[in-house]
Order: sequence, then structure tokens, then C-alpha cells
Amino acid sequence: MSEHQTSNTKLPVIEGDVAFVTGAAAGFGLALSKELVSRGASVIMLDINEEVCKKVASELNEKAGKTVAIAVKADTTRFEDQLAAYELGKETFGRVDYFFANAGIAEYPWLPPFDPSTSSSRPIAPPTLKTLEINLIGQLNTSSLAFQVFERQPPNARTGFRGKLVMTASVYGYWPCKSMPMYTASKAGMVNFMRSAAGYYGEKGVTINLIAPNMSATSIVPPDFVALFGDDMLCPVELIVEQMISVLGSSKDNGRAISIMGKEVWDHPLDMFMFEKNKPGMDMIEAEVGKRIGLWA
Ligand SMILES: NC(=O)c1ccc[n+]([C@@H]2O[C@H](COP(=O)([O-])OP(=O)(O)OC[C@H]3O[C@@H](n4cnc5c(N)ncnc54)[C@H](O)[C@@H]3O)[C@@H](O)[C@H]2O)c1
Repeated sequence: MSEHQTSNTKLPVIEGDVAFVTGAAAGFGLALSKELVSRGASVIMLDINEEVCKKVASELNEKAGKTVAIAVKADTTRFEDQLAAYELGKETFGRVDYFFANAGIAEYPWLPPFDPSTSSSRPIAPPTLKTLEINLIGQLNTSSLAFQVFERQPPNARTGFRGKLVMTASVYGYWPCKSMPMYTASKAGMVNFMRSAAGYYGEKGVTINLIAPNMSATSIVPPDFVALFGDDMLCPVELIVEQMISVLGSSKDNGRAISIMGKEVWDHPLDMFMFEKNKPGMDMIEAEVGKRIGLWA
């Protein structure tokens, strides 16, 4: 493990920058949107829950005396919803420096519980992949939008970066949990996507990092569930938001999986077991696939 630390981060300057935040009506996305605005940034707030975003955006605008936030109803599983939100944001603010792929849900059962005694009375059914669709596909929609926007806009005059993507995963992106196979699959997908994509986009003026908290008292977790755990296990929302902001501005950080448990923050290491031994072959596969799908000559 690279480093354990408690929060003492000096946060980068983001004044005048523009952020796109999914899942902005509650929890991390809501707290993040408010914090970004309080630091002088503008924000495009997306959620399926339009009402809360609208209310908060109008409060933020009233306080600032100008438009610093817009609210857009969007389902992140629909790419066209996110594209429309970006277009509205571009019209209002001119560009987007930061995309936060944050919206997500808790485990939604994908199959009925395993029960041979009743199985013959039930037809074999397709899986319900709602958790993957929102948590993984929704965040990949945001990511693909971010990369194409960053490709089309000049670097930020102050930071020199074309843009930065920050994803919200979970410690369950590394650790298994037998009651949450779809949640762990979605978060693990994000972790290795982020690490792979960071290698490619990092050379192009784009950074990608990910925040992986353990449990935090937001609306994704029922209050009676939260009440079972002590403060040492719950991650303060402010600490999560602080870590999200720590990789913005002129920060060069790229490919980090920033993990949070209680008040402890660490960079989760890559699982490189057996990699060194296989490295020559893995390097060849990486280079050859990139050539064949047109990523490089
Ligand atoms: N709170 C935790 O314990 C915890 C821990 C680790 C990771 N996370 C992750 O953090 C992220 C944010 O969760 P939170 O804790 O703030 O939860 P939350 O429920 O408080 O907020 C999530 C927001 O996402 C929105 N949303 C859900 N599906 C959507 C969709 N398809 N399109 C647009 N918006 C949608 C909801 O309406 C809600 O406003 C999620 O990805 C979650 O998996 C949460």
C-alpha cells in the first residue's frame, strides 16, 4: 500500500472552471456541486431527480447573483440525455473542465436467491442488470462524453489540461462481497477501466482518477443500516468531496484509486501478482491491440 494519511490536503484552485456532475440531487454529487460553486466553479447538475437539482441550482444562482449552476433532468444510462445536458452546459458556460461520473445505486437483485427446492416451479429467467447499467454503463456514458468533449476543446488556459474525469467507485471495486455481486462487478469494472484509460488519455492532456469510499451516510444507504456502524467505519461526506476536488485544477495526478475508510485515505495499489513474469507478453498484447484498433500506428 503506497500511503496512509488523514486529510490535510491543500486543494487546487478551480475558480472559473466548469464541472459536470451526475447524481447531483443527493449525497456526494449534491455536496460536491455546492462545494465546487463555493470555490468559484460553475456546475451542470444532472440527476433523474430534477426537482432537487433545480431548487439547489436556483439557490446557488441567487446567492452568487449570476448563473453558476444549471439543473438538467438526465438518466445516465441514456447517452443522449447526458449529451443534451453537456450541450446546455456549453451554451451556458462555454466549456467543461471536469466530468464527475458519480451517479449510482446500491445492489439490486440480479437473480432470485438460489433455492433448488422451488426452482422447478420457476422458468429460467434472464438476469436483471440494473446495477451494472446505472453504475457501470451510466459512468462509461459519462466517460465517453468527457473524452470526446476534451478532444474537441482547447486546454484550460490556467491549468494546461484539456479536462479531467473523476469517477465514483467503492472499496468494493477491489474487495468481494457475497451479497453484492453486481455492485462489486460494476465498481471493479470502473477501477480497471480507469486504470487502463488513464494510461492512454494521460498522454493527451486528460487525467482520470477515481474515488473509492467505504460506507457514508447518504440516501443510498437506509438510515437504520447506517445506524449499525460506528464513526470509525463511516466516511464523512466532506472528506470524500475534498478528495474529489484534490485531483482537479493543475494537479497532475492520473490513474489514482483514492480509497477512503472512516477518515483514513489511501491510494489502493494495483494487483500486479505474476505481472512481471508475464510483462513481455502483456506489453506485446497492449501494443498490438492498440495498433489493430487504430489507437496508434
Ligand atoms: N454512500 C455510500 O456509502 C457509498 C460508498 C461508496 C460508493 N458510493 C458511490 O457513490 C456514488 C454516489 O452515491 P451517494 O452515496 O451519493 O448516493 P445517493 O443515493 O445519496 O445519491 C445518488 C444520486 O444518483 C441519482 N441517480 C441514480 N440513478 C441515476 C441515473 N440512472 N441517472 C441519473 N441520476 C441517477 C439519484 O437520484 C441520487 O440523487 C454512487 O456511485 C455510489 O455507488 C457510495
